[in-house]
Amino acid sequence: MIFYFSGTGNSKWVAKQIAELTFDKAYNIMEFEEIPNIKDEKQIGFIFPIYAWGAPEPVLNFAKKLENINIFTFGICTCGEEAGLAMKRFSKIYHLDSSYSLIMPNNYIIGTDIDEDRIINNKINNAYNKIKTISTDILNKNKVYDIEEGKFSKLKSTIFNFGFNKFARTTRKFYVIDKCNGCGLCVKNCIISAIQLIDKKPIWNKKLCYQCLRCINECPKQAIQYGKATENRNRYMINRYI
Ligand SMILES: Cc1cc2nc3c(=O)[nH]c(=O)nc-3n(C[C@H](O)[C@H](O)[C@H](O)COP(=O)(O)O)c2cc1C
Ligand code: SF4
Ligand code: SF4
Repeated sequence: MIFYFSGTGNSKWVAKQIAELTFDKAYNIMEFEEIPNIKDEKQIGFIFPIYAWGAPEPVLNFAKKLENINIFTFGICTCGEEAGLAMKRFSKIYHLDSSYSLIMPNNYIIGTDIDEDRIINNKINNAYNKIKTISTDILNKNKVYDIEEGKFSKLKSTIFNFGFNKFARTTRKFYVIDKCNGCGLCVKNCIISAIQLIDKKPIWNKKLCYQCLRCINECPKQAIQYGKATENRNRYMINRYI
């Protein structure tokens, strides 16, 4: 079983490719109503994006509840540049025999603009080549640690990650501009139902969210903003490139 979490589609796409190449199935962890039974599984995989040099909170919560059984386990994180010590920290919660990072297009438009089209296409092509190698490793149950940790990884994965989870996950800065046509896609897209339409305009009804950034990146009118940071930035969803 391969478990994935994804905001803008990168990790979902990776999970589907890995599942196909390793004759397995990929499941979105947000769609489980209860923790799945994994007793008869031959391998377990976790695939998710890096958020501030760490694993997203719902992935950590899911892994904490999953039974620990003695089978081959692997984790693949997707990130714009570097993963820090995210996979080492994840492996303390759920032991991973193998860990990989895949450099994929950046979706964190609160921090920087999306990559240029040429870079996006290169990242996806390079990732697909690496996915083929990873799949062979998984089929052979090779134990590999292949992570782009980056510099100052300990600092980033502890203090910066703590700061992100404590202070940067507020929904307070989300707002919509006049271009919004009330289509409701953002409401449907939010994995924690943090958005509702009132008088055909989205309102964020929870104080904190996971910051998956699907709402802001997939809005067909580019009507969602986060403070001033996103006003002049483009939007990213993998389905515009594959
Ligand atoms: C809240 C947030 C934090 C992020 N932090 C990092 C990071 O620390 N390092 C990095 O290389 N990419 C970072 N990114 C970029 C994503 O990890 C990357 O684009 C990922 O492939 C998105 O996957 P998804 O499409 O499955 O959601 C961040 C993205 C978000 C939304
Ligand atoms: S997806 Fe965009 S256009 Fe549609 S309701 Fe949400 S903000 Fe408005
Ligand atoms: S409000 Fe937007 S960024 Fe936050 S969890 Fe929902 S879809 Fe993701």
